Amino acid sequence: MNRRKALIVGSVIASSALLQANTKTPIIIKPSYGSTHQIKPLSFNPKSLKGISEKVIVSHHDNNYAGAVKKLNLIQGQISSLPHSAHPIELGALKKEELIALNSKLLHELYFDNLGGKGVLPTSMKALLTQGFGSVDAWKNDFVKTGKSLGGGSGWVILSYIKEEQVLINQIAGDHSDSVATGIPLLVMDMYEHSYHMDYGVKAGKYIDAFMGNINWKEVSSRWEAI
Ligand SMILES: [Fe+2]
Repeated sequence: MNRRKALIVGSVIASSALLQANTKTPIIIKPSYGSTHQIKPLSFNPKSLKGISEKVIVSHHDNNYAGAVKKLNLIQGQISSLPHSAHPIELGALKKEELIALNSKLLHELYFDNLGGKGVLPTSMKALLTQGFGSVDAWKNDFVKTGKSLGGGSGWVILSYIKEEQVLINQIAGDHSDSVATGIPLLVMDMYEHSYHMDYGVKAGKYIDAFMGNINWKEVSSRWEAI
């Protein structure tokens, strides 16, 4: 944990003071349309997870995630080629589909990137979760139970930090959207059935247990450090 994060965990007042001292990095703006989104490869060996099979991970990555990226490229291509005279309804329908495909892409990348670890919480993240939820167990109970509530259905469970409120929240994001407006995702769990059905059928709880044991907390910690 760096000095800034240590103070955030230790004191809400200190965090405000340090945010003011934060140095600005240059912001890059790319064209919104006209470029192609690339499929990000897995950051871990799909054979290395315990309790989530290579078959599920590869299918999930190559079909569901890659499908979302391809769909996003298709939708954005259609938006960019709409004539200036296009009806707002035509554009609006594409914008809704664009949001779903874009969020699906982004959430899947966060999900895969926060897998591939051993599920061992670093001290800094223990302190953070204890600060937010009272204890690591209380956070875990809230996160796991939120996931189980989606068993047999669909959606995402996201541990997010809301800067404006200075709080952590385990939230549900349905339809690849519905996220807290300014929530910054730290840990993402896919609860769509394609994440576990081939391994566990309808037993979503077994998948959640396996997910918790494969979390790459180093990645989660680095997301927190980057805020
Ligand atoms: Fe998925």
